[in-house]
Amino acid sequence: MRWNEVSKKPGLRVAHPEAQPRSMVVRPAALVRPIRPYEAVSSLDHIHAHPAQVPHKLDWNEATVPPSPKVIEAVQAFLGQAHHLNWYPVLNSTNLAEKLAVFHRVGEDQLLITNGSDQALDTICTTYLSPGDPVLVASPTYQHFLVFAQTRGAEIVHHYGEDLFAADVDGLVEAIKRVQPRLVYVVSPNNPTGVEYSAAQVAALCEATAHGLVIVDEAYSEFSGRSAMGLLHTYSNLIVTRTFSKAYGMAGLRIGYAVSHPVVVEDMRRVFNPKSVNVLAQVGAMAALDDQAWLAWYVDQVTRAKDLMAEWCAARDVPFRTTAANFVMLQFDRAPWVVRSLQEVGVYVRDRSHLPRLSGWVRFSVGTVEQTKDVLARLGTVLDRLVP
Ligand SMILES: Cc1ncc(COP(=O)(O)O)c(C=O)c1O
Repeated sequence: MRWNEVSKKPGLRVAHPEAQPRSMVVRPAALVRPIRPYEAVSSLDHIHAHPAQVPHKLDWNEATVPPSPKVIEAVQAFLGQAHHLNWYPVLNSTNLAEKLAVFHRVGEDQLLITNGSDQALDTICTTYLSPGDPVLVASPTYQHFLVFAQTRGAEIVHHYGEDLFAADVDGLVEAIKRVQPRLVYVVSPNNPTGVEYSAAQVAALCEATAHGLVIVDEAYSEFSGRSAMGLLHTYSNLIVTRTFSKAYGMAGLRIGYAVSHPVVVEDMRRVFNPKSVNVLAQVGAMAALDDQAWLAWYVDQVTRAKDLMAEWCAARDVPFRTTAANFVMLQFDRAPWVVRSLQEVGVYVRDRSHLPRLSGWVRFSVGTVEQTKDVLARLGTVLDRLVP
């Protein structure tokens, strides 16, 4: 088969016949073959196609405002001072690790700074999973972790509690005893349900997991103000992952980290590429950490905006679930129609109604109070068009 024949995008056609890439006929590795390509649903194309419309990009739980001005200043200053973009970044981000160690009161050897927390999750899977290893996942949850685990041939066991919006620690402990997982994955607060796990509950999971590691993905923990990190002194089988993508507003720079026992971090370094994190992300993250006042301002805005949404939904009789993160869930009888109609008025949200037992639920990322007033006004116009 010729590349020209398979490619539907004119821009991708190969001009020179000799340039036919032979790799087109090579099939992916056996472990990768059964995985369906991640359906990257991005609203950016639609946003760019409607430049006159002020968009509310609420589909990926990013911050809705740029990061602290100090981040922008630091990045611009770096670029302006003839620093070397031609050189690789500081290996292992030791400059940032030093700061984060003080910030979290952990050892520098407990930190692995990664290209987004996604790379931390990926590195955990590379380091610890062999084909056939059981991985227990508190579902429904962040989908991409499943891809990382599946790529290593892991056997994913989903645990769904009876109430999807509440932690089912007893059920998870039972599943751990039955499945004997290599990895347990919980997100706290969970995306998309908002389920949180207290320190005592995470401790129970670590106790039960005799021959494996417990990952607590804390991508949204700055919003909730709660963390399992205090347990790292007690449990050597705990890994906490964090990101600068959400509350710090730096999703485009791609930087996150894992915190664990030094031996775990050392093991992950066996496969980790120390130059994975780009230099601008390092510079930006250090500036972001230094501006906790900005973080507090943004978290407060999101908290007040969530309250506003709760009041609005109560007044309109729209089923509503808040979370301790920067997103909420609204339920509609005609969720796909509502999501499409919102897109027409420039509000981009994420339909979660296809996930098991989340029928009709739509996830809205939440930003500032001012933005949220406008979002609700636009949602109001859409719902007014719904015939009862
Ligand atoms: C629970 C969870 N973990 C990790 C990520 C990915 O974060 P990062 O941008 O740090 O890779 C996301 C992004 O949506 C998420 O929801």
